[in-house]
Amino acid sequence: MKKRVFLTRRLHEFALKKLEKEFEIEIYSGKIPISEKKLQDKIIDVDGLICFPYDKISKKTINIASNLKVISTYSVGFDHIDIEYAKEKKIRVGYTPDVLTDATADMAFSLLIDLARRTSEGDRLIRNGKWREIFGAYDYTGIDLKTKTLGILGLGRIGKALAKRANAFDMKIMYHNRNRLSDLEEKKLNVKYASFSKLISSSDFLSIHVPHTIETDKLFDMKIFKKMKNSAFLINTSRGKVVNEKELIQALKEHVIGGAGLDVFENEPILKNNFLKKLNNVVLSPHIGSSTKETREKMAEITVENLKRGINGKKPIFSVGY
Ligand code: DGY
Repeated sequence: MKKRVFLTRRLHEFALKKLEKEFEIEIYSGKIPISEKKLQDKIIDVDGLICFPYDKISKKTINIASNLKVISTYSVGFDHIDIEYAKEKKIRVGYTPDVLTDATADMAFSLLIDLARRTSEGDRLIRNGKWREIFGAYDYTGIDLKTKTLGILGLGRIGKALAKRANAFDMKIMYHNRNRLSDLEEKKLNVKYASFSKLISSSDFLSIHVPHTIETDKLFDMKIFKKMKNSAFLINTSRGKVVNEKELIQALKEHVIGGAGLDVFENEPILKNNFLKKLNNVVLSPHIGSSTKETREKMAEITVENLKRGINGKKPIFSVGY
């Protein structure tokens, strides 16, 4: 009998074909992410699970799936999975790093340029028939990127790729990381190390590239926003929960900081009445950091391979925990 695999969303056809060859698969077809309860009902006797960053894989869910051998997430982030518990239960967890580094760095940089040059704001202005109101010499100015300071919190794969892009635009680059890079690497990347508080207070653009953990949960709150320049822009393509969204909204409303470019949110999809949608100094994108055709195909390939290995008792190509 074929082993059973549940997918919380559709993957590319080529990936589904590969799965169907070996497994009996079921795909959730709902428009919005599957609820935790429904997911629990679906995975009672599956051998493998393919999930996405917005699917919470809790201890309770893992316990319900008593046959589960592998969780393969279509993402580099795995904060939605109780990794410690999966490890305890000897369930493999696969994820998809590396392949999405450039796409996510591009996304962060595109939010940065958008904020600097007010691209999305201009788009809204034209659509709202207000172009006639901005013909003055001082109207609708953005800012140059050259010589502005980009602060990168978390200089891992994506942070480094972002630094490469910022260098091409003659920005000054500071970073803060748990581990400082070697002198040689700092030189190569043209980045300067700074303490967290120096990074916060000196950046014109501050881009977050740390995972969501107990230590980083709601790390960016009003206390931090007040230490930032009031012209500074916050960019987040990592995880929404690293930012206290309620306090960010307040900081943006009161111009405590200059603006924000957000690809990730506390709740995804954001709630209908989220006030961020009303703010002009914010650029929003629907968690599409890794979403290029090429990258998503590579992610699908790795997700399938991780699943296949894990279901057969092997370590996934990219594995976390057990
Ligand atoms: C990831 O892979 O974790 C990204 O956030 C998805 O875009």
